[in-house]
Amino acid sequence: MNRDLVDRLRQFHELTAGEFRALLTMRDPLDVKYLMEQAREVAQKQFGTKIFLRGLVELSNVCRNDCLYCGIRQSNTHVSRYTLSREQVLQCCELGYQTGFRTFVLQGGEWGEQRSPWIADLISAIRLRWPDCAITLSLGEHPRETYALWREAGADRYLLRHETHNERLYSLLHPQGMTIGHRLQCLDWLKELGYQTGAGIMVGAPYQSLGSIVEDIQYLIDFKPHMIGIGPFIPQHDTPFARFPAGSADLTARLYAILRLALPQTLIPSTTAMATVAPDGRLRGILAGANVVMPNLSPEDNRKQYALYDNKAALGAESAQGIKQLADELATIGYAIDWSRGDSPNA
Ligand code: 5AD
Repeated sequence: MNRDLVDRLRQFHELTAGEFRALLTMRDPLDVKYLMEQAREVAQKQFGTKIFLRGLVELSNVCRNDCLYCGIRQSNTHVSRYTLSREQVLQCCELGYQTGFRTFVLQGGEWGEQRSPWIADLISAIRLRWPDCAITLSLGEHPRETYALWREAGADRYLLRHETHNERLYSLLHPQGMTIGHRLQCLDWLKELGYQTGAGIMVGAPYQSLGSIVEDIQYLIDFKPHMIGIGPFIPQHDTPFARFPAGSADLTARLYAILRLALPQTLIPSTTAMATVAPDGRLRGILAGANVVMPNLSPEDNRKQYALYDNKAALGAESAQGIKQLADELATIGYAIDWSRGDSPNA
């Protein structure tokens, strides 16, 4: 019965809410194994046994926003704030490029619009110096004009997790004034502007229900993002959610598998949060149909200051030696690194 649902999801890319719920809660290990196998098969048909790499540059932990789950929220006065200089960012990219990276992800807190031209300038500089690389942004909510400015400067992709499609849950996770409506508006703008667009959620966020995860699956199927970023929620000790438990690696992997079957062409990273909650988390994500890994290219000195959550796993893949380690880890499950830009097949 459950395997029948898996087959139908693979074939038709949709199920009813109740059926998705059944897949999220099924208990028989053989059913779960079947789901993972099918998801893996679909991922391999699309991407082979190859994993795309993205070099993550954590631009700044300065943030005007105050999301209750996030360690770099404005109200957290225990964070020492930094912003990389243009030269530092270019150095990170240079190091990454020499190692073989062909996608750079500039991620950071939400800044006021007065700094948007600085970002545009930085994007142009990267675009000019490494024309063969993809530039991904993960810088939060901004006016449409800012997204347009950055796109014109040469950015190709934008990651903006919707966090939850459920209005009530969204307002429990975010400060007053932030709405899911506006978040979805931003995602629509990004797509319209021609970005390869990524949405996604945290699994096991405080107050999250199974029903809200089902809503998220349905939203993702409807929106058809090019990329889906999902990781377990992990508490950060200086946030209002410090005492909530971390999300589960099992449920996260199950969600990767369901979304792989629903949206076969989507780029799905096995996230750092996944590697943080379980020692074999990264590999489990790949075995559930994920096909991207995002090693950190940020300067060593700043990494601990970019603590969205506690005990963040580090993957020293920026060095040749770190890459060898990652390649060896992937090889244990029969996978290898794909060094190409790795654009979305439906871009
Ligand atoms: N645990 C897990 N993920 C988190 N993020 C932010 N804070 C946490 C946390 N405590 C995720 C959010 C955000 C992305 C950049 O990091 O989903 O979109």
